[in-house]
Amino acid sequence: MNSNFRKAIVIGGSKGIGKSIVVNLKKNNFKTISCSRKEIDTSDLTSVVNFTKKNKSSDVLVLNSGGPPPLDFNKINKSDWEKYFNQLFLGFFLLLKHIKINKNGYVFYISSSIIKEPGTGLVISSSLRSAMSSLLKSYSILQAKNNVSVINIAPGPFKTGRVKELVKNIKKFEKTLPTSKIGNPEEIGKFVSFIVKNKIKYISGSTIYFDGNLNKNYL
Ligand SMILES: NC(=O)c1ccc[n+]([C@@H]2O[C@H](COP(=O)([O-])OP(=O)(O)OC[C@H]3O[C@@H](n4cnc5c(N)ncnc54)[C@H](OP(=O)(O)O)[C@@H]3O)[C@@H](O)[C@H]2O)c1
Repeated sequence: MNSNFRKAIVIGGSKGIGKSIVVNLKKNNFKTISCSRKEIDTSDLTSVVNFTKKNKSSDVLVLNSGGPPPLDFNKINKSDWEKYFNQLFLGFFLLLKHIKINKNGYVFYISSSIIKEPGTGLVISSSLRSAMSSLLKSYSILQAKNNVSVINIAPGPFKTGRVKELVKNIKKFEKTLPTSKIGNPEEIGKFVSFIVKNKIKYISGSTIYFDGNLNKNYL
């Protein structure tokens, strides 16, 4: 890692998990660009392309965005697929294609633990994030020669605005979880910052499940 290893871009960095990553990278003296939808809306490909014209390279890139609505299979329209395909897949592809990650850098992607166990209620989320996880794996192999580490962070329920959209009674919901607690976004912020600060390099092309043991599979 060179002495200029200081720049980080966090898409969806204004709230929740993304914000916690921003706060923790800043604590470690990263010059961090924190983005809300004002800076880049990943569902709007013009906005994405304009962003890449102003931000051509980075040492750390965090791919994050808002989650789609919880719609059952039969309630999803073609326009829902188009919007969220852009927001959660094509927008991220364009960012990976056009933002050069400097040698020895890092890419983190915030997906969801439901990529492992898709259900019936979050079909858009589980489908598109699974596709994006596959794309990210291909990208990670390509980037290995540059010593760029690519990590897919797959959260279970975390205490953010997003979980409040999905769960009516958080206290009641917590009782159903193995740890009886939903996650604190600060942990993901600390994790990202730890990896980068300590130059952890041999985790790459991997998915890290941050789900408080919610998934029953050990893989
Ligand atoms: N929290 C959970 O329990 C949980 C679990 C699994 C997966 N996830 C996923 O993890 C991601 C982050 O979740 P979170 O809980 O941190 O959500 P959050 O608190 O709602 O924050 C979402 C962030 O994404 C930004 N954003 C929203 N729509 C965007 C768009 N079209 N383009 C670019 N940025 C956009 C928001 O910016 P603004 O300031 O402009 O709103 C905000 O910074 C989401 O995709 C979510 O579905 C969350």
